[in-house]
Order: sequence, then structure tokens, then C-alpha cells
Amino acid sequence: MPNVVSKNNPYLPQMGTIREIIQETPNIKTFRIVLDDPEQMAAFRFEPGQVGQLSVFGVGESTFVINSPPTRREYLQFSVMKTGEVTRALHRLCEGDPIGVRAPLGNSFPVEALKGKDILFVGGGIGMAPLRTLLLTMVDRREEFGDITVIYGARSPQDLCYRYEFDQWRAAGVNLVLTVDREFPGWEERVGFVPTVLAEEAPSPYNRVAITCGPPIMIKFVLAGLKELGYEDDQILTTLERRMKCGIGLCGRCNIGDTYVCVDGPVFSNTQLRQMVSEL
Ligand SMILES: Cc1cc2nc3c(=O)[nH]c(=O)nc-3n(C[C@H](O)[C@H](O)[C@H](O)COP(=O)(O)OP(=O)(O)OC[C@H]3O[C@@H](n4cnc5c(N)ncnc54)[C@H](O)[C@@H]3O)c2cc1C
Ligand code: FES
Repeated sequence: MPNVVSKNNPYLPQMGTIREIIQETPNIKTFRIVLDDPEQMAAFRFEPGQVGQLSVFGVGESTFVINSPPTRREYLQFSVMKTGEVTRALHRLCEGDPIGVRAPLGNSFPVEALKGKDILFVGGGIGMAPLRTLLLTMVDRREEFGDITVIYGARSPQDLCYRYEFDQWRAAGVNLVLTVDREFPGWEERVGFVPTVLAEEAPSPYNRVAITCGPPIMIKFVLAGLKELGYEDDQILTTLERRMKCGIGLCGRCNIGDTYVCVDGPVFSNTQLRQMVSEL
């Protein structure tokens, strides 16, 4: 698979340029990046769920999911929540600035195995980023999948990412259920925590796979809610955010027992997660 992880030196990033920056929420920005070498950009391939290391020169690099779908290859999109040194430096960058990219890294969602299934996405906050790449892949290959329901929540309306796309998702036949933690003036969608809305919506587990990503506390209650609705562990996929350094299975920073999240993940089924925890 052609990619921009150099075979000679896997730590060497490829040069890219920030084409566009979107302020998603007060602390999340989306970066649309184009690789400077047009041949490399044209040859770049990845699968939904794979990540990249973005580097700010002189500061460091951090891991982010490629949240544009492989079906749209004009640019690579990453959404970055400001948490620490590297993400603060990324937020200071401007359109036209250079940026380093090492990608694609890690495994991906099993798209082919999901064909013909109904899909439930359950996301919270920045957790919508890894879900977006798979959601848009399915939107672009709509006839290959059954019902697509998305339950997406954040603390407030202004904390929801990708608001400018919601109409397009709905127009593509996505059953989009939006929720915020409490009432806000002008908000006409659902109010309540994501796990509560999941229980109210109660999407049937029959022939369905659930994919969830969000803050750990949300995941905990969503997993319990899915169990309650009758979902089996192998019907539930999630992406693990484990601190990474090399991203290629060499440094030992990200492992849980024998599992290297950077190469064996970040996408895992609940069955795999339970096995990993029991082996610790
Ligand atoms: C597979 C994967 C995919 C990711 N995708 C995204 C994404 O699409 N968008 C996004 O905004 N972030 C994503 N992250 C998290 C992102 O990598 C971290 O927020 C980033 O590395 C923080 O770097 P920093 O130098 O700004 O923060 P630091 O100064 O290193 O840390 C600041 C604070 O954030 C915490 N932190 C740092 N890294 C992580 C982490 N990986 N998980 C949990 N807490 C962490 C630290 O403990 C500390 O409290 C992903 C992480 C992984 C492993
Ligand atoms: S990040 Fe180095 S081994 Fe996974």
C-alpha cells in the first residue's frame, strides 16, 4: 500500500501544507492538509480508522485519526482538540503553514465485514472524528449498508463538531439523533446524556453493529446500555486512545499486555478489549 511512512526511516515525516482550518468548537480545530509532493498525494491510500502523526516542527508530534473518508481524496482531514503542548502548537498554525505527516498508521474498521449490516454510531464530543471517516465512507457507498443511525452528543450545541455537515448527512439517509447535556435557547433537538438517549432510541441489535467513541465515562455507560439492548461483544467496535510515540510497534509506549495499540489497533471489538484486560 503506497503511503507516506518512509521505508528507509519510518520516523521521518512527509512534508504537507495546511490548506484550510475550520474552527469546529471553542477548543477543536479541523485541519485540511495536502502533501507537498503531488505524486505522493495522488498515491496516498488509507482505510477508515487509521491514524497519522502530525508534527509541528520544533515542538513535537501527536496522533490523530484521519477523519476524511478514503472515498474523498482531495485532502487529508484531522480534527484536533487542544489539550497540551503539541495540540496548542497545532492550534497556533495558520492556513499555508507547513506540517509534517506520518501516515497511515494502525488498523482500520472492518468495512467489508460491515456490508449489508445496519449500523449504529454512538459518539461524544471529539469522539465523532473517528466515526466521521467511516460514516462518510458508508454515505459514499450508501447502497452497500442498511440503516445508518448516528447518536451524537456534546455538552452544548457549540461543542458539536461538523455542524455544517448535519443536513448533508440527513439528506444521505442517515438517521441523525443529536443531543446536548441540558436545555439551550434555540436548541430544538434532544436533551440528555448520550447513554440516556441511546436507551430511549433503543436501536435493535438484530443484524446491527455498534461503533462508539467518546470520553471514557460515556463509553462505559454506552457499553452497558448496548449490553442492556442485547448487543453481543462482537457486535461492538470502539477505538482506543492510548498515548503513542513511534506509532509503528517499536518503542513499547502503547502496549496493553501483548497488544500494541499502534499496530494491532486503534480499532478493537469489545470481545478483543475484554480479552486484553483479562490477560493483564
Ligand atoms: C489512536 C489515537 C487517535 C487519536 N485521535 C485524535 C483525534 O482525532 N483528535 C484529537 O484531538 N485527539 C486525538 N487523539 C489524542 C491526541 O493524540 C492527544 O490529545 C495529543 O497527543 C495530546 O498531545 P499534547 O502534546 O497536546 O498533550 P500533552 O501535553 O502530551 O498532554 C496533555 C494532556 O492530555 C493527556 N493526553 C495526551 N495524550 C493523550 C491520549 N492519547 N489519550 C488521552 N489523554 C491524552 C495527557 O495525559 C495530559 O493530561 C488520539 C490519540 C490516539 C492514541
Ligand atoms: S507507539 Fe511505539 S510501540 Fe506503539
